[in-house]
Amino acid sequence: MADRLYIFDTTLRDGEQVPGCQLNTIEKIQVAQALENLGVDVIEAGFPVSSPGDFNSVVEISKAVTWPTICALTRAVENDIKVAAEALRYAKHRRIHTGIGTSPSHIKYKFNSTQEEIIERAVAAVKYAKKYVEDIEFYCEDAGRTDNEYLARVVEAVIKAGATVVNIPDTTGYCLPSEYGEKIKFLMENVKGVHTAILSTHCHNDLGMATANTISGVINGARQVEVTINGIGERAGNTALEEVAMIFKSHKELGIDTNINTKQIYPVSRMVSSLMNMPVQANKAIVGRNAFAHSSGIHQDGVLKNRESYEIIDPKDVGIDDNIIALTARSGRAALKHRLNILGVDLAQEKLDSVYEEFLKLADRKKDINDDDVLMLAGKDRTASQRIKLEYLQVTSGVGLQSVASVALTIAGEKFEAASSGNGPVDAAIKAVKQIIHRQMTIQEFLIQAINKGSDDMGKVHMQVEHNGANYYGFAANTDIIAASVEAYIDAINKFIK
Ligand code: KIV
Ligand code: ZN
Repeated sequence: MADRLYIFDTTLRDGEQVPGCQLNTIEKIQVAQALENLGVDVIEAGFPVSSPGDFNSVVEISKAVTWPTICALTRAVENDIKVAAEALRYAKHRRIHTGIGTSPSHIKYKFNSTQEEIIERAVAAVKYAKKYVEDIEFYCEDAGRTDNEYLARVVEAVIKAGATVVNIPDTTGYCLPSEYGEKIKFLMENVKGVHTAILSTHCHNDLGMATANTISGVINGARQVEVTINGIGERAGNTALEEVAMIFKSHKELGIDTNINTKQIYPVSRMVSSLMNMPVQANKAIVGRNAFAHSSGIHQDGVLKNRESYEIIDPKDVGIDDNIIALTARSGRAALKHRLNILGVDLAQEKLDSVYEEFLKLADRKKDINDDDVLMLAGKDRTASQRIKLEYLQVTSGVGLQSVASVALTIAGEKFEAASSGNGPVDAAIKAVKQIIHRQMTIQEFLIQAINKGSDDMGKVHMQVEHNGANYYGFAANTDIIAASVEAYIDAINKFIK
């Protein structure tokens, strides 16, 4: 019989640490419920002591989710642990994830400490956490660069103190797959009491080896994997949940089973990408736009004769419906609702009606409405309650012409107008907005992306605006990229003018 592998999802903690990916509590609950449907075993819901927002999200996710264990991160610090236990009070199954750095550089530079003292602090943290919660996971931060003999001593000590799971993070994504596998094997063979706990992988992708390292860890005895949807996370990201789930589903000879309902993979991937404004690279394994697209003539011919010639996964197994009905200006509400459901979005009738109105307007301008457009429309009223709104925008620009923009904004219902010239249409429009909003603010980052092919496509704009020493993130999507740029700018301003 196959061994059970526990899936620990950290999209809402490690994934959410990415600048610009922050979600509000309602959005986090949406993701947590989608993860529950997907069949994950553990949801790491946040780091409660880090902010009131994180604390509140852990509380609300604990109430909203039934089956998965809800986990909260802490440092090996009593107050962190106490606050985490409080945030978890409504969880039906709860876990505290505490830990400390164990590598020479963490011990020396981060803690100015010694190996013995770190073991004492680790044991004390587990014992303290055990007063509140039975299920305690301990992380040995930077285990990837920690000497195996010393790591084994830490793991043995925390298991003896009551840890139920021990996490072996390759925090910097440094290990080779063989090296990481050896590390897990060493612990499985040398730690007294290792079979009374579960060893967990937690691999970062700095050298593109996160998934390979995770698989190597499991082959050598780890029975929990820490992963995120679409592999999002600090720097180059974490191990992608969808890759691990499909590797073990495809390679039955490895004898590992997960509880993942793989048909939910694509809808959850789209939901996370859309809510976090984090595009999935086109060639991303399993969930990228091109993952099942065959472009060369030879491949197309082979796939048409027999799909298995070039496909090792049936797209339907990951929730990609090939027979999706094309959405055009002639599609009805039912078709739109069907596509939204496939994408994991369920709207009440009134909201569906308003999204449908917007859909028809877009379909008049754009012949092929794709999944990103639909998700964008469904999320469009995220700005409905904003204080500052773009009322109208008119620009004149062209080769040999000075760019000029006229802008009207409503601020708390009152209309303000301004006009400006500039070094291009976006510059002119932004300067006009600045004439209305008298604040010191500078654009730090400005990224324009087309979602798909075609000159009629939606443009997505991500912007970071600095104000009073803090950065604020703005996002907008529009078929008119100048309008999207101004809307993203206003979205960022709305974050600091309440
Ligand atoms: O990468 C890491 O080491 C972590 C720990 C906090 C678990 O995210
Ligand atoms: Zn991490």
